[in-house]
Amino acid sequence: AQPITILGLESSCDDTAAAVVRRGVYGRAEVLSNVVVGQNDLHKAFGGVVPEIAARAHAEKIDLCVEKALVEAGVALAEMNAIAVTAGPGLIGGVMSGVMCAKGLAAATGQPLIGVNHLAGHALTPRLTDGLSYPYLMLLVSGGHCQFLIARGPNDFSRIGGTIDDAPGEAFDKTARLLGLAQPGGPAVQTEAEQGDPKRFKFPRPMLDRAGCDMSFSGLKTAVLRARNDVMTDDTIKHQDVRDLCAGFQAAVVDVLVEKTRRALAIYLEENPTEPALAVAGGVAANTAIRAGLESVSSAFNVRFTAPPLALCTDNAAMIAYAGLELFEAGRRDGMDLSARPRWPL
Ligand code: KG4
Ligand code: ZN
Repeated sequence: AQPITILGLESSCDDTAAAVVRRGVYGRAEVLSNVVVGQNDLHKAFGGVVPEIAARAHAEKIDLCVEKALVEAGVALAEMNAIAVTAGPGLIGGVMSGVMCAKGLAAATGQPLIGVNHLAGHALTPRLTDGLSYPYLMLLVSGGHCQFLIARGPNDFSRIGGTIDDAPGEAFDKTARLLGLAQPGGPAVQTEAEQGDPKRFKFPRPMLDRAGCDMSFSGLKTAVLRARNDVMTDDTIKHQDVRDLCAGFQAAVVDVLVEKTRRALAIYLEENPTEPALAVAGGVAANTAIRAGLESVSSAFNVRFTAPPLALCTDNAAMIAYAGLELFEAGRRDGMDLSARPRWPL
């Protein structure tokens, strides 16, 4: 047996990233480097990610990220077993920047390419960080995604429910905007919520009356808007009102996620997994109230709960390199015809 070393590239949204992951002859994979260059400053003035600006920035920065990842890992490009790259889903200009760079590296070294689904990267991260065994239940919650997956292998996921409109991160960001808080809204709303009364405003718990694991978060921001308008006078809002609105909003999100997780766990446990586990990933997994809720519902079901460290929860290339490693071990090899896909359901 030989160690396997994979270079991973990620550029599907607004982070340009490169990382090296290695599995030694024995045991767990290890992150040798994990370089992320964000673009927040470039998009700040526009109130959201501008695809054309993002694509240009990825094309400009990705070579440097690769170089830095190799130096930090202390491994030469020639020692890679494969080049893994996010091939979708995402903003197509950015995905193409990454795929083109990976093709260049593969052509120069003769190494195989492995196209990785960005969502699979997130979903496989708890195997890298906590060594979860298949099958496990995954809740992916970010600014763009919200879904329950049963992970059975690096290329084998079942989606058992998800949002039918906004993702929770989007709802946090929009709520923050309504209340004049900083972006990204999640951390700001959480901070305010910690000083607020979650019971003062009665926000809806959308879709709890419907069977299954589907969710909806777009109605919540409308409810927050109405409640805000009711308490505002002369275009100003008291700080305590902001805190109470944030607390009420966050409590509604937690209730929905926890109840839907309870149902998802029941479905997952029908498979009789030998080491049952629930993992959460995505930027919203940083929320302490959401984590606490998921932790308690997991322990009620006697299911292990894990959440990757934040740097591996948000967009990064270590997760792409790791997914590439599992796919490589499973025999996946892509060629120069690998295409960038804006949409790519798991
Ligand atoms: O996974 P991520 O970095 O990017 C993608 O959306 O792919 O997630 C970013 C999202 C943003 O919407 C941000 O507001 C949210 O994660 N977020 C949080 C918290 N920290 C980040 N939401 C709630 N509570 C937090 N503490
Ligand atoms: Zn992501």
